[in-house]
Amino acid sequence: MDNYRDTAADPLTETDPTQTDLPEPELQESELPEAAVRMLPVAELHLHIEGTLQPELIFELAERNGISLPYSGIDELRALYEFTDLQSFLDLYYANMAVLQTEQDFADMTRDYLARAAAAGVRHAEIMMDPQAHLSRGISLETCVNGVASALATSVNDFGVSTFLIAAFLRDLSEESALEVLDGLLAMNAPIGAIGLDSAEVGNPPSKFERLFAKAREAGLRLTAHAGEEGPASYILEALDVLGVERIDHGIRCMEDPDLVERLVEERIPLTVCPLSNVRLRAVDTLADHPLPAMLAAGLNVSVNSDDPAYFGGYVDDNFAQLEAVFGLSDFDRSRLAANSIHSSFASEERKAELLDELNRA
Ligand code: HPA
Ligand code: ZN
Repeated sequence: MDNYRDTAADPLTETDPTQTDLPEPELQESELPEAAVRMLPVAELHLHIEGTLQPELIFELAERNGISLPYSGIDELRALYEFTDLQSFLDLYYANMAVLQTEQDFADMTRDYLARAAAAGVRHAEIMMDPQAHLSRGISLETCVNGVASALATSVNDFGVSTFLIAAFLRDLSEESALEVLDGLLAMNAPIGAIGLDSAEVGNPPSKFERLFAKAREAGLRLTAHAGEEGPASYILEALDVLGVERIDHGIRCMEDPDLVERLVEERIPLTVCPLSNVRLRAVDTLADHPLPAMLAAGLNVSVNSDDPAYFGGYVDDNFAQLEAVFGLSDFDRSRLAANSIHSSFASEERKAELLDELNRA
């Protein structure tokens, strides 16, 4: 992916086309151990906190809460992480949430993610949670929101990672259910800054949630939605035009519609791409078939994210390491992806400037 250098703008600023001279790495990439890709400071924008629940923690929480799991051990559970499509993953993802019972459980899961993300070079994390997946199991909004929020509250101090919480709504449930939950979140003054839309995409188009997104916008929340992961490119258009989202989660199927690509480039719409997720959920056959290089070449505003790292083979550094192994990312590609993630975040302008400064120095 070396060949964008001549045509692309400076990755670190969106307006100044001056090329930045990145310092030579002290070690050649080939001398680095495989897992230790040299990470630039990045923002992670597409992360489901429930998808960070590692098998070890699933068993620990099951024991703590007296829940009997239908697996004999970690190996048997891990053996199930062979997915055929999005739904086959969602079935296990929702089933494993049964172990999340108390605020402490949600806090422990979130702290584990923040510690691992910090080690991966993540300096700002925008974290989705699925309140409806907990309410349907009899867990209150207070338990799940306050548990996650308590870990986020000390994240800057503990891990140097700033955070932003996104309430994601399950698109295979009704809009009425989503509206009710949004009301509950607003009534409890939940520390959320945005809403998102996730779960089973095909057959649940963005337009199903027009009133929900209008209401969230009125409440001053930022807007994002999964679109174009398994669903068609037309869902991306709907998310932009009917829901008015600022950002698209996944969005890889935009590549099937050249007019849409042109618009996404022109409007600099962020696409939060998750390469290992796309491989594991068979949205692409192999990483070598992933459209990320073509998306970068087209000038799309893409970032690299981990989605559900406990299920898909790795965190954001693992995504970068595997992209590096398959495509040989140049320094320029890496700094562009990192800069895109920062520019595309919902962080304050002040925090973005800090992160861009840190990236510039890296
Ligand atoms: N797609 C849709 N819904 C999800 C995902 C995903 O990758 N992960 C968790 N919920
Ligand atoms: Zn996702």
